[in-house]
Order: sequence, then structure tokens, then C-alpha cells
Amino acid sequence: MQRQRRLLFGGDYNPDQWPAETLQEDVRLFKAAGINSATVGIFAWSKLEPRPGRYEWGWLDDVIEHLHAHGISVILATPTAAPPVWLYQLYPDVLPVDENGLRYGYGSRRHYCPNHPAYRHHARQITTELAKRYGRHPAVTHWHVDNEYGCHISACYCPRCVAAFRQWLQQRYQTLEELNKAWYTAFWSQTYGAWEEIDAPRRTTTYHNPGHVLDWRRFMSDSYLACFLEQKEIIRAFSPGVPVTTNFMAWFDGLDYHAWAPHLDVVSWDSYPPTGADPAETAARHDLMRGLKGGRAPFLLMEQSPSQVNWMEYNRPQRPGEMRLRSWQAVAHGADAICFFQLRQSQGGAEKFHAAVIGHDGGSETRVFREVARLGAELARVGERITGSEVRAEVAILFSWPSWWAVEQPPRISKGLRYVDEVMRYYRALWQQHIEVDVVSPDADLSRYRLVVVPLLRIVTPELAQRLQRYVEDGGGLLVTYHSGLTDVHDRAHLGGYPGPLRRLCGVWVEEFDVLPPGQTVRVRTSESLVPWDGVYEAEFWCDVMHLEGARTLATYEDEYYRGMPAVTEHRVGRGRVVYVGTALQPKGTRDLTGWLTRSLGIAPVLDAPDGVEVLRRWPVVEGDGDRSSGQGPILFILNHRTTPVTLSLDGTYVDLLSGETCSGSVELSSRDVRVLIASPSELQS
Ligand code: GLA
Ligand code: ZN
Repeated sequence: MQRQRRLLFGGDYNPDQWPAETLQEDVRLFKAAGINSATVGIFAWSKLEPRPGRYEWGWLDDVIEHLHAHGISVILATPTAAPPVWLYQLYPDVLPVDENGLRYGYGSRRHYCPNHPAYRHHARQITTELAKRYGRHPAVTHWHVDNEYGCHISACYCPRCVAAFRQWLQQRYQTLEELNKAWYTAFWSQTYGAWEEIDAPRRTTTYHNPGHVLDWRRFMSDSYLACFLEQKEIIRAFSPGVPVTTNFMAWFDGLDYHAWAPHLDVVSWDSYPPTGADPAETAARHDLMRGLKGGRAPFLLMEQSPSQVNWMEYNRPQRPGEMRLRSWQAVAHGADAICFFQLRQSQGGAEKFHAAVIGHDGGSETRVFREVARLGAELARVGERITGSEVRAEVAILFSWPSWWAVEQPPRISKGLRYVDEVMRYYRALWQQHIEVDVVSPDADLSRYRLVVVPLLRIVTPELAQRLQRYVEDGGGLLVTYHSGLTDVHDRAHLGGYPGPLRRLCGVWVEEFDVLPPGQTVRVRTSESLVPWDGVYEAEFWCDVMHLEGARTLATYEDEYYRGMPAVTEHRVGRGRVVYVGTALQPKGTRDLTGWLTRSLGIAPVLDAPDGVEVLRRWPVVEGDGDRSSGQGPILFILNHRTTPVTLSLDGTYVDLLSGETCSGSVELSSRDVRVLIASPSELQS
């Protein structure tokens, strides 16, 4: 793959909606804003192929040439997220079907059945023609396949999908006997006697079979993935060396991004935090998306709004400075591109009141444009130094889409328990302590981490348990929470006592669990002689009632029938140790627990910074295999998410890449301000 040299700054651009003359003015304004990239073609299918097999390239030729002539590179999109009306005239059943058996209508977007052969055929055709025509064009830096797979609709219940599901199941299970076992169909007389009897989990009287639903979700994720993969293969043939991506949506439950990520050359995603959003939430999404490729490699921020969106209940503009801060936050978390939806605001259509770099006024005299231009100038100044540098976290949080699906599939043990919220309980505690985190798949290589946090990992295989065991024996720190290890890949309970395959590793046996309704808490007291965090904490949602089997107690319950029993334990295994947390400690408890644990594992905060200030590092690397370390110190990002000024102390002398100033001793940041620092050259020599 080509190495991307500059930090891309651009976004979705739809000249297909505008008269040709607009292009000149757009490019003039792009240059004024420092925009160096434009993503074109995303929803332009009917403009490119107005009738089946009849292509109109002239307008796109002009757009790409004109952008290229002005030094603006192109992320070229395949337009397959919005099929043209003629496709539905030819094949009405390309339209997807919902779980009640009702077919959707057209006139919106993303309304296609991923398993329809005619849709797939026409999608391959347009991709082939596009890739042939522009695949080797020097302006094209990336391919952007389709748009937000799974958005709006992530399953189709049509007969073709059901037939494809049966085939997928046959491949997975080979025999019906295996499938019946896996789905535990002896329950409620659900046994299947022929493959043709298997249906989609459509509307039923009450609960579905959980194994059936899990496989259906995996199958649907794979169905959309197949659409992506066949386009990618075509692009690869006609556009060698140009990286291919598709834009993800972070905590999106429709697709298993861990199954997708190996197939993307680079991960890209779309970030839409509401105005005033908790910065830890956005941070976690970046770390989840970067974690899809193991945590180090950069990703692309494919979309964000330059100000308000149009699809929330209350679409508030981003406050002055907010977009800039969020953009730098993305870069600090590993983004090598900052792109907007969109560059020019549409005059009509459903998104006409969504903010854009060039608004309906058409000029550069807006606050939004000025803020974009300021950011563009900053990125141009320092982007090249940052591009390609890595994030190197020492802490990982394991995240799993199938566990998410299983935890939230009705009937639920606790309605109050939300998987992502529980992941965020730990993420936020670490974020507040300025500790860098990768959010990664349970299949990721864990050997480089000092601490691995496993929140609510309901599905645990014996293989994963073994890998975790080895990781701990080799000196790793592991934190496992309640509701982990309960079930296998089919969501059948592990027999032989909870937490199933993790029982020996954690050194505890969970005999039963109490569920606390919202608002009810249980007190947990730490054993002060054992851990230097003090006193009594409140816990919510869930309390494991457990017994020690080799672990020692760090904290006990103070209430309920399990008063005096262990709530938090520690088990030494090999050169490492496992902390098991049987309950959901409220924020203070989670923070004190993770603070103690990280300190005792030798994991230091990036910097000692006040609350609401985020500090992160990216490490420059040299190209090639083997030791990629460049020997240079990290680039240090300091982000003040507060609306008041802050002062921090530094541990050396730094140069601020944005202002050129030298800072040492202490550094001040005004409201929502950003510093991008490197150790001053004299420091590095010494
Ligand atoms: C998504 C889509 C875009 C646009 C924006 C609006 O991210 O990919 O096409 O609809 O939302 O916020
Ligand atoms: Zn279908």
C-alpha cells in the first residue's frame, strides 16, 4: 500500500447535485480553507449510470481533473449505497423486507437486499467501470466502498436472504444435528428436521431462540461484508496499491466490525457527537475504531459535522472552538484524515439543514468556514510530521460484538445493564486518569499490554480462556468483571460453575448473582490492609455471590444476604494476577480500583493533568519491517475540554508545533484549546 504523506483534510463532496459552474467556486473556497481532499461519488449512481449500462463520466472526469489540477486529492466512492430508481423498476424485489414481512419502498437510501443477485451484479458493474476509469488516476488516494454498511437497516428478511442463511448455516454446521445442538432446539420444541424448515428470526409471539438470533446477526454481517469484498476485489484489480476502506460507525450493533476489519486496508469511521458531548465517549469510539486493526495503526476520520447535524431531536451548532478541539482529539487518537460531511451544503433533499463547510450563503464569511480554515492551516503546518505515527497503549479493553448481542437479547437478566455502558464504566475511569487505552477484539494479540480489562464478556471460549491464562502467567494484569464467561459462542451456559472457562483463572466460583433495580445500591468495603484505596463504595446493577477458590478478597459486600462475602478479589497466577470484580462499582470506586491496579502494574498516566484535560501521545515510526521505532520522542497532545482555562506542569522543555513557542515548567491552555508538543531538540540530545 502507498504511504499517505499528508494529513487529509476534506470530506464528502457532491458536485453531482450542482451545476458544473459551481466547481470553480468550490475549489477556490476549498483552497481558502486548506482543504486538500474531497470524497466524491458516494450517492451518485443515477448520475453516473442514468440507464442500465449507459454511463456518463464527463462530469466526474471534470471534477476529478479540476480537483487534481488544484492539488486536491480524491477519495473515490462507489455509489452503491443508493441504487437508482431504474433498478427497482427492473427488480422490485431488490427492496429489502422487514421482520414483519413488509417490503420497504424506495425514495430514500440504503434500501437494498444484500443477497439479491441483481443488486450485486449491478453494484459490481458500476464498481468495475469506475475502477477501470479512475483506478490509476494520480488524484485517487483511497477507495470508499458504499457508505455506512448496515446504517438505517442491517437485516433483510426476504426469501433470498432466508435461502442464503440456510446455506450459511449448512457451511457452519454441516449437519442438522449439530445445528440443533448448537441452538439448543430441544427447548420449546424448536427442533429442525430439514434445512428448508429454518426461517429468519422474524416477528414471533415472544422470545426468539438466542442461538438462532446470534447466527442470524453473524450471517447478516457477513452478507453485507460479501458486498464489500466483491467490490474490493474489483478495485484491487484495476487500482493496485490504492487502499480500500468503508466508513464505520463505532458502537454500531448491526455489524461485527471485528469480522470486517481484517478486510479493510485502513479503518475509517464517522463521528457525530452531539454538541457538548462527554469527550470520554468520543475518545472511546476512536480507540474502538483504532483497535480494530490492533490499536497502533492510524485510521481516517471519514466524516464529522463542521457544526450541527439534521437528524438529532435538537440539532445544536457546535460551540465556537468545539469542532477544532474534536478534530485534534481525533488526530491525537490516531486519525490521519479529518473529513467533514459535507463540503457544500445541499440546496434540497433531506439533509439541506445539515451544516457544511460552504453553507447556503455560499461564501467564506461564516463562523463555520473560519473555524474550518483555521484548522486547515494548522493541519497543513504540522500534519506531515504526524501522519503515520502510532498510538502505543499499555492497557486494552476487550470488546465483542457477539457478547454485546447476547447481553442485550431479550429476555435480559437485567434491563438496566447495557453492554457499552459497562465498557464505558472502565474506559471512562482510565480516561479520567490520563491512561491510554486500546479497545480491541478478544482475538487481538495481548502480549504487549500490561493490563487487559474484560468487562461483561458474556461469551468466552475455552481457547480464549487459555490465551488469557498464558497472558497472565507471562506477567500480565487482568481485570475481569461479573457477567463474563457465562456462555459459549451459541450463548449456551457453560456447565460446571460460573465464570465457566475463567473460573480457574479468576480463582473464584460465582454461585449466583443478584440484580439491583435502578437506584438501588449495595455497599462494598475494601480491606484496607490489602489495597490502599479506602473505605466504602457504592455498587449498582449486579452483585455476584461468590466463593474464593485460590483468590484473596480485596473488598467485601456490606449489605444484603451476601454481606461479608467477597465482592472484589485478586488471584496470583504465574507472574501475573487477575482481579475479579463481581459488581458494578460506581464511578469513584471504579476509578480508585483501576488507579490502584494501574499504579501497581507500573502503568503511568501520560501526564498529571487536571480533570477535563485529555493528554495523548503518538509515536513517529520509520517505514519498513522490524524495529519501527524512529528513536524520536512522542508527539504530545494536550486537549482542554473545559470551557475555562487550565494550567499544567510539564516535565521538560517542549516546542509547540502550532504556535512555535517553547514551553517548559508550566503551560496554559485557554477554553477548548489544544497544544501539540514535541520535546525540544536540545532535550532529546541530552
Ligand atoms: C452519515 C452519512 C452521511 C450523512 C451524515 C449526516 O454519516 O454517511 O451520508 O447522512 O450521516 O450526518
Ligand atoms: Zn433479502
